[in-house]
Amino acid sequence: MICLTLTRDTISDDLEDVRHNLDWIDLVELRVDRLSNPDPDAVARFPGELAKMTGGENAGPASILTVRRPADGGSWSGSEADRLAVLSQSISEGGFDYLDLELDLAETPDGRRLAELARSGGTRIIRSVHNFEGMPDDLARLYEDLSAREDEIPKLAVTPRTSADLLVLVGLILDTGPRERIIIGMGAVGFPMRVAARRLGGYLSYASASSNPDVAAAPGHVTPRVLAETYRYREQSPETAVFGIIGNPVLHSGSPEYHNRHFLEKNLDAVYIPFQVDDLDAFFVTAVRLDIRGLSVTVPHKEGVIPHLDETDESVVPVGACNTVLITDGRRRGLNTDVAGFLLPLERAIGASGPEAFDGMRATVIGAGGAARAVVFALLRLGVRLCIVNRTPERAERMGAEIAEAVGGEQPVVAELGPDAASLIEEHGSLIVQTTSVGMEPEVTADPLAFYEFRGHEIAYDLIYAPEQTRFLTRAAAAGCLTIPGTSMFEEQALAQAAHFEHIL
Ligand code: ATR
Repeated sequence: MICLTLTRDTISDDLEDVRHNLDWIDLVELRVDRLSNPDPDAVARFPGELAKMTGGENAGPASILTVRRPADGGSWSGSEADRLAVLSQSISEGGFDYLDLELDLAETPDGRRLAELARSGGTRIIRSVHNFEGMPDDLARLYEDLSAREDEIPKLAVTPRTSADLLVLVGLILDTGPRERIIIGMGAVGFPMRVAARRLGGYLSYASASSNPDVAAAPGHVTPRVLAETYRYREQSPETAVFGIIGNPVLHSGSPEYHNRHFLEKNLDAVYIPFQVDDLDAFFVTAVRLDIRGLSVTVPHKEGVIPHLDETDESVVPVGACNTVLITDGRRRGLNTDVAGFLLPLERAIGASGPEAFDGMRATVIGAGGAARAVVFALLRLGVRLCIVNRTPERAERMGAEIAEAVGGEQPVVAELGPDAASLIEEHGSLIVQTTSVGMEPEVTADPLAFYEFRGHEIAYDLIYAPEQTRFLTRAAAAGCLTIPGTSMFEEQALAQAAHFEHIL
């Protein structure tokens, strides 16, 4: 189930948030501690208001009552006696389906009284512990305490900081018997626990009306719509195949949106999850435990992932980067779809493909970093004669020699980036590929080749995709050149990756 956590100042604003999210939610949690005036009568009326919203035809969303103390990450500013009074009045009037009660109340007389009251009125108890700082040492013991009563739903919300922490949480949910329970990893590292809670056998996942971290009810919340539509939360089952992206940071990545949409369009029972990874060893144990089938790999792991692979395609080692991992029968195969992603738009621009299409071509590559390697590999393998121009020519020299040796191609000519390189570029001017970060947002007026005047016959290809039209490209286009923006490569490498993922399902 998807639960919308309500954290507005007033109940009417909360109800407004419910109205906007009705299509994607099964439950709402009224956070009484966030109300500016927590009037017990108004709180007690809330379930009735909720039921009215759906006009009585369908059952409306179920409701959880929560009054969170500051020590548990809440905002309740009144006394504990007042808190218990609000809970007690709202519960005794019935209507709430669930009551969130903290673990330390389990053994106090007030806590026991409240729990009895709830049970007698048919309200189920969610027994919770929160830790916004990190992972408690005694996690397993804590979970056992939370799970003491069969009729309660244990809720453990902690903050994993490392890949090893996430592994502990994943282990906890997989190694404890199936039951209705809520195990949440808060924050970026814990994000997979939220979006794949159903796949992992969790009872529900919490969401906020806004995913803006300044407004969201808890770290890592997304909107109910993102859970329902991007991650297809309600369609997840233990059989759903898990794919993902590893990077650090990774939550900003557009890949989950892209690949989950692809799975939806192809009607595949699969979900694609972002994993913020600081430790590949720990992550790959998690990958085994979650039966992850395929991965996109992004910064900073494209190189570091290579020792974790059982086999690689012919480009991974010479390029020194792997951006795709396919896992079948426990074997990890590393690919680099950047090579194909780079070539396809170029072949489309030329209108032909294969070595013949590149016969006699002389090209310039600007830059000698990670992105340049896939380009140099692709072009040298096709027999293109290359000139590499870089701010640090020694780096270009080393890269050129290494890749030429790996593919058995001709060693590239190298020059330092600057006006002295203009004549070499002209000689290698069938194609100019820009691979540096110069001209990327926000420095959109920068142009690494400002000293070079395009003749008009060059194909100008920029790997930068934000902005789509860089200064380098607009200058080339103005001179009459054919231009290829970085968005083309980005889309092609993602498409190639999606095809691989689809193939192994
Ligand atoms: P990426 O993986 O994105 O290619 P990288 O490995 O850091 O990133 O490589 C960045 C490339 O952009 C390098 O070729 C770098 O030149 P150096 O090898 O001399 O470092 C180039 N680059 C970055 N900033 C630059 C600048 N201000 N002027 C010229 N080249 C620059």
